[in-house]
Amino acid sequence: MSKKVLVIFGTRPEAIKMAPLVKELKAFSSDFEVRICVTAQHREMLDQVMSFFNLSADYDLDLMKPDQNLFQLTADIVTGLKGVFDTYKPDYTFVHGDTTTTFAASLAAFYSGSRICHIEAGLRTFNKYSPFPEEMNRQLTGRLTDLHFAPTEQSKQNLLRENISEESIQVTGNTVIDALLQSVEKVKSNPSDLIHSLSAKLGNKEMILVTGHRRENHGEGFMRICKALKEIAESYPDIWIVYPVHLNPNVQKPVYSLLGSTDNILLIDPLDYPDFVWMMDRSKLIITDSGGVQEEAPSLGKPVLVMRDTTERPEAILAGTVKLVGTNTETIVTEVQKLITDNEHYEKMSQAHNPYGDGKACARIVKHLMDSVLSETI
Ligand code: UD1
Ligand code: UDP
Repeated sequence: MSKKVLVIFGTRPEAIKMAPLVKELKAFSSDFEVRICVTAQHREMLDQVMSFFNLSADYDLDLMKPDQNLFQLTADIVTGLKGVFDTYKPDYTFVHGDTTTTFAASLAAFYSGSRICHIEAGLRTFNKYSPFPEEMNRQLTGRLTDLHFAPTEQSKQNLLRENISEESIQVTGNTVIDALLQSVEKVKSNPSDLIHSLSAKLGNKEMILVTGHRRENHGEGFMRICKALKEIAESYPDIWIVYPVHLNPNVQKPVYSLLGSTDNILLIDPLDYPDFVWMMDRSKLIITDSGGVQEEAPSLGKPVLVMRDTTERPEAILAGTVKLVGTNTETIVTEVQKLITDNEHYEKMSQAHNPYGDGKACARIVKHLMDSVLSETI
């Protein structure tokens, strides 16, 4: 008899990283009945991904509110999911990563008695305020999880240190690389109209791609980041800085007011996933505080400066293609200058490698789920 699987996600990165898994699970329709539930913690940025990967939600809680707060969002997700669990009664619930959706959905799955499968398990900074609230979302989800799918050996070791049983952990690679490899050729061979016009605007000039949204950078952090970007733009008028600005009002307001009138800074709406992949590939270097971008860029051979003090993704730092620069204006400017002026340094940081996966994570996850179902080991 087929098992009922519920895949829950709510934000852009969760959707990107769950899309190839949903596809893989659905390929085994005689083993698994698969339904998707979106909390819609994000709306437009989630719908962009759903549309590119041809996903449609079976349950949509439609929860996003402008400038939402963690208290209300957490409560709304737990409460909203009750009806979904009562109706569908999944045997297995898949959650991804470290967002409020991840933690609240795990809690709801635990209350309903569904087995919890956590994708991208075991990443840790061990600093509960950085990233905030993601570090605790991921740790708490780990306490509730039955099957931990760790992307790297290092993340498995983190789980073992928390006395999580080895039999419940599988090292699979990160599904973000599955998504990237499934999309990159499609993107390059068939660029969108928007990419055609952005490409014409950039001409043959070099380009720095920027993203930023972390809660711990809101306020002062974003002021310092914007100051750094302005200084870089003024020092290098022949280089474009392109910044698809996250829709969070705590990001939109400072970024548009501080950078909106600098000639060689292009502020644009969040890009569709394939367009963003195209832009990463077109860039000389990337400045970001994103988790997912830290994983994708090394595969494309792009140096990444990470505007954070800690990272739960140490693998690419060890390999030398990602560097933590925090949000100090001077440090960001100096590190960018080094990459622009020192060729040897640039070459070292732009060695393509895949510390986060080989594109087969989803196949491993589904195979292990099948083995687990067969042997009733969980
Ligand atoms: C959330 C996650 C973060 C993840 C990030 C990915 C939490 C606590 N935060 O942060 O871990 O790295 O998503 O981008 O789970 N908004 C829109 N439209 C959208 C999306 C957001 O208007 O499609 C605006 C809304 O005003 C919303 C606000 O952004 O209230 C904040 O969204 P929220 O999901 O709470 O926080 P993020 O900063 O996006
Ligand atoms: N991304 C996108 N459009 C953009 C910026 C980023 O599709 O304009 C993708 C990016 O390729 C990566 C993911 O969004 O896969 C990262 O999401 P985000 O930075 O919002 O969240 P985080 O990874 O930090 O949780």
